[in-house]
Order: sequence, then C-alpha cells, then structure tokens
Amino acid sequence: MNQRRKKSVLMIYPKFEVKKLSKNIKGFIFDLDGVITDTAEYHYKSWKRMAEEEAIAFDRKVNEQLRGVSRMHSLDILLNGKELSLEKKKELASRKNKYYQDFLDNISQDDLLPGMSDILKRLQKENYKIAVASSSKNAKIVLKYLEIDNIFDTISDGNSVKNAKPAPDIFLYTADKINLKPEECVVVEDAESGIEAALAANMTAVGIGPEERVGKADFRYDKTSDINLDEILKKS
Ligand code: BG6
Ligand code: MG
Repeated sequence: MNQRRKKSVLMIYPKFEVKKLSKNIKGFIFDLDGVITDTAEYHYKSWKRMAEEEAIAFDRKVNEQLRGVSRMHSLDILLNGKELSLEKKKELASRKNKYYQDFLDNISQDDLLPGMSDILKRLQKENYKIAVASSSKNAKIVLKYLEIDNIFDTISDGNSVKNAKPAPDIFLYTADKINLKPEECVVVEDAESGIEAALAANMTAVGIGPEERVGKADFRYDKTSDINLDEILKKS
C-alpha cells in the first residue's frame, strides 16, 4: 500500500523531483593569476632562474603543474623528492620570490586579461559582491599594479588561510568576509586545484582553460574573453 502511494506521488509530481533550484547568486570570487591577469610567465622565469642556479631540472611541462599551487608546494614539485633542509627550502623559495617581484614592476592596467575589465564593471554596477581569492602572497601588490585593488569587497591571498587549494578554505573564508552563503557565490578559476576547491565549498565553479584542466567546473570557457555572465547567472 505504502509502495503504491509513493509511486503515485512521483508520477503526479515528476517535475518537482528533477527541478534544479536556482542558487540566487549574489557574489563572484575571482582567482588572480590566470583569471584577472596572467603572471604565469613571470612565475616560470623566476623558478627557471633559481632552478638553473641550483642545477635542478625544470621545464614548461613541470611549470604547468604549478598553476594555482602555493609557493612552498611548488618548490616541492620542482624538487621532485630531493630532500633539503627546511632552511634551504625557505631560502630557495624566497630567492624565487625576489626574482618574481622584480618582474612585477612591469605590470600595469594593460595587463588585465581580455574582457575582465568589462565583467568587473558590470558586476559592480549590478551590485554583486566581488572578491579575490588567490594562493599568491603577492596578490595585493599585483592588484595594486593593475590599479584595481580598491574595487573589491575583500581580497584573500596566500596569507589568509592555512590549507591551500584544493582545500575549500580560502573560498569559504572569502564568502564569510562578504557575508554570503557558499551557494550564493560563483568562483572563477583557471587551475584544477581551484575548481576542486570551489566545488568542495559548494559554490558554482567557472573554469577558464582546457577541458582536461578545468573540465569538472559547472561552466567552462577557453579564455576570459569567452566568459558569458548571462549564461552563468541564468543557469546557476
Ligand atoms: C598562484 C599561482 O596564484 O599563486 C601559482 O597560480 C603560484 O603559480 C602561487 O605559485 C603562489 O604565489 P606566490 O606569489 O605567493 O609565490
Ligand atoms: Mg590561477
């Protein structure tokens, strides 16, 4: 009897069972490197210089694995199992960072990735909260050079949380700062670890890049100029 009743309810209200509830998006959280600007080449050249000085093998293929990954974790990937003291590792990471910071002087507003200026302006105009959540400890300097450091409701960087992406921590921390629930946030990311972090945080994930890297995202675009805000807002 019970079985029959259950079945008939499902038959009468089939649409109710499958309807995806709208998440009512109220904010956008952007990754920095590879989404707002492209600093990957500067990171690559800085690691390369340090690696050559230390006779550590490093090429562009290994560099691809560093996308979205914290500085010390990146060094571990470079070292590929080679054991060094913590003191030596800190010295290598800080030397790389010094080389990287020398490149930052070259950054200006012209280095915003295509389409990003319009996206940020539109979101501001339509009263969405906008934030940055980057693994980089240099995020605030980079945003300053891009001349957009004062447009965000909050900026989280590599100093904000202990557990880096793919842990959801930085996105949850950022949502909390802007008083939004996770499901009210869209994350825009170019790294596999970033997409995993966004999904683990129960946020809508927008991936920038190829299927093999960001294919798990809810929406994927090859490049920033392809981002379709209307599509994201309508289908989220
Ligand atoms: C991420 C980059 O945003 O920041 C990584 O994608 C980088 O490549 C990481 O390693 C950490 O950056 P920083 O500036 O703290 O060394
Ligand atoms: Mg990135």
